[in-house]
Amino acid sequence: MWGLLFVLALLGLGSTSFTDDEQNRRPTSLHLLSDDFPNALCLDGSPGAFYFTPSAPTSPSSDTWVIFFEGGGWCFSDSDCSTRATDKSFLSLGSTAALPSFKNHNPRYQQSIYSPPLAQNCDANPAFCEANHVYLVYCDGNSFSGGRLAVDGAGETLHYKGKFILDAALETLLGLGMESATEVLVSGDSAGGLATLLHADQIGSKLAASAPSLTKFRALPISGYFPPLDSVEGAPVFSAQMKSAFETHNASAGVQVSCLDGKSDAEKWQCNTSPEALRAIKTPLLLLQSAYDAWSTSCIYTLNSEGVCGGASGWGLPCVGDASPLGSILNIYGPSFLCSPSQVAHLNEWRSTFLSSLRETGVYDRNGSGAFIHTCHTHTAENLPNAQWIQVGGVKMKDAVTEWWRANVDEGFRDFGGEVCEWDEKFPHQCNPTCIIT
Ligand SMILES: *[C@@H]1O[C@H](CO)[C@@H](O)[C@H](O)[C@H]1NC(C)=O
Ligand SMILES: *[C@@H]1O[C@H](CO)[C@@H](O)[C@H](O)[C@H]1NC(C)=O
Repeated sequence: MWGLLFVLALLGLGSTSFTDDEQNRRPTSLHLLSDDFPNALCLDGSPGAFYFTPSAPTSPSSDTWVIFFEGGGWCFSDSDCSTRATDKSFLSLGSTAALPSFKNHNPRYQQSIYSPPLAQNCDANPAFCEANHVYLVYCDGNSFSGGRLAVDGAGETLHYKGKFILDAALETLLGLGMESATEVLVSGDSAGGLATLLHADQIGSKLAASAPSLTKFRALPISGYFPPLDSVEGAPVFSAQMKSAFETHNASAGVQVSCLDGKSDAEKWQCNTSPEALRAIKTPLLLLQSAYDAWSTSCIYTLNSEGVCGGASGWGLPCVGDASPLGSILNIYGPSFLCSPSQVAHLNEWRSTFLSSLRETGVYDRNGSGAFIHTCHTHTAENLPNAQWIQVGGVKMKDAVTEWWRANVDEGFRDFGGEVCEWDEKFPHQCNPTCIIT
């Protein structure tokens, strides 16, 4: 019975959710990057793009901006990226050829409209509901960090140019009113959470130079901490993938310079991963995600040597669930109660290693930053219609986001919920009741 409730909760059924009309009162328009930016291209050569929902001019938030990076995994090699580029559907992660001009009725974006920082409903998103919302479309395959240029005279069939897309989008936004911004939040989920860690400082420097009234600049990476740890079988499969992504996309100019400075050539790819990006970032931030992140437990921890998520021997459905595009869009991952006691023991090891990796970055010592780390077996659940059921230490996510955003940076580190609980080997395993009952 709990199981059914949980699955219904994940799907947003049987609970109150906001209707489209309540969510989308303000018009949103699609901006394809112009040919003033000849390198701002998706994998297939179509122009990069963003959706823009301006604030109402009379709103007190009219000079507050949210810049949000869409997620969608990474492509690690030419063949992998070519699959994205050949997809010309409105769901494509490698082409903007079929993007609808109005995003709100596209299922691809449903997950971004119900909760902080993009919801327009002020009950769901108190701090940013009326702000200017920018949604950067993900079509480059490496968290907006690629910088490969054509070799003289050679035509390109695939374009690895995520960093150029980001730079062009920022230039374009400065011409759309962002130059008078006073407060800016950079956010994103999943691969967009990594993009947030990688690029927030550079966006902050650009704004410091171009938006003279800017007084507040912070980052909210959602489900974006992917430690490149070994799989449960002891193999470094995910780290090999990220190394390959870094090289394929020629991402050296798209990651943080302060990270590269301390690295040998053989180690530079690590700057394309979350731990190094988090170590290097200076912008105050709030980490928002699960210590049992469903994508990571499936596509890092139980990834097999052929690159199949959940493919490690003895895993797969039902415990770690379905991380395919369909599963990701619906956020159908194996809930904790479907795991065996020995799988729970392994996932608890993942939790410990994940938390040590996070601590080693030094983020917990940073004033102005904070963490909301829960234990629901979800990935980007933060963006589901009823995601606000999740609480740690009696605090809801939306309230954590608001409290952190409104606090002064010299007030110390905000650790919402404190110690992250550990799953119980006894059924139904979950240690946080708000992960089970809506
Ligand atoms: C790769 O990026 C570097 C900048 O980090 C640039 O100097 C170099 O030309 C790029 N190589 C290619 C093939 O695009
Ligand atoms: C950091 O936060 C602590 C706790 O509020 C405070 O005592 C300290 O002065 C802050 N440090 C800086 C550099 O702001």
